[in-house]
Amino acid sequence: MSIKISLTGIKPSGTPHIGNYLGMIRPALELAKQYQALYFIADYHALTTVKDGPTLKRLTYDVAATWLALGLDPDKVIFYRQSDIPEVMEFTWILACFTSKGLLNRAHAYKDAVEENIAAGFSPDEGINAGLYSYPVLMAADILLFSSHYVPVGQDQKQHIEIARDIALTFNNNYGDILTLPEAVIREEVMTIPGVDGRKMSKSYDNVIPMFAPANVLKKTVMRIVTDSRRPEEPKDPDSDNVFSVYRHFAPPEEVERMRQRYLNGGLAYSEIKGELYELLEVTFSEARNKYNALMSDWEYLEQVLLQGAEKARKISKPMLEKIRAAVGVE
Ligand code: TRP
Repeated sequence: MSIKISLTGIKPSGTPHIGNYLGMIRPALELAKQYQALYFIADYHALTTVKDGPTLKRLTYDVAATWLALGLDPDKVIFYRQSDIPEVMEFTWILACFTSKGLLNRAHAYKDAVEENIAAGFSPDEGINAGLYSYPVLMAADILLFSSHYVPVGQDQKQHIEIARDIALTFNNNYGDILTLPEAVIREEVMTIPGVDGRKMSKSYDNVIPMFAPANVLKKTVMRIVTDSRRPEEPKDPDSDNVFSVYRHFAPPEEVERMRQRYLNGGLAYSEIKGELYELLEVTFSEARNKYNALMSDWEYLEQVLLQGAEKARKISKPMLEKIRAAVGVE
């Protein structure tokens, strides 16, 4: 039996926060223990929105430094930058010819942008570039070029994996079983991590808890988490509380259970649980934060790691693309 491939991409469109960590980075690092893992920085995907060269470059290194700091071992996994793999672009065109336009019309990101335009009284495609529209095809190329079995992603990416499967099926119907049908790996329990204002943690809501901010900033952010106004002695509902919803992903299970009881019994001040959460985050991330800071001051090293990763990735992507070119008749 051949080993299974797990692949995931991270879009360098902002400094990663603890929502990204729980939803994607941590599960992906766990899967790396079981499978041949490939991780890449999806800089061409980010180009649909990040239109400033130096910013895209910095964000690319930011993502690289984050994953390395959190324990990604570039000797064990294949860690590369999407734009270093020219086969991805060539394959994207080939796949576009097997992607029905209607499928792309129904992709959430595009549909949402159209709906926002209509609601604002603009023409439906106002400000939407063809890169955003074709985003799912590029993503299918990322996944299918490496014959990925599993793709760990957040819930918001599930549809993209389904689209990749669809495209693969259409291709295979034409040429035989060349492409592997990928499966999304989504962790139900971490689907929604609330940000400090209680909405889903997201850079676009400006409500994120950063991973590598200095301790005082981290503390201030945790203290800002919105709670209800119950007094310390009153019983509280852990499941609807934003602090507990983050806490439970970082504390060991027995501690989570103990804390849950303290909520229910009353006698716990929100300031106390916030203090505990802050301590936990400090313990979880302080060592990684030091590594991250060191890596961010050594872009040359990061560049070298990424180029070595690309070399390994191309050992897979080159022969695969040859096979695909042969199948479609463009050798
Ligand atoms: N679209 C993903 C995101 O926004 C990033 C991504 C690009 C990706 N290519 C991928 C994820 C391939 C998994 C597999 O986060």
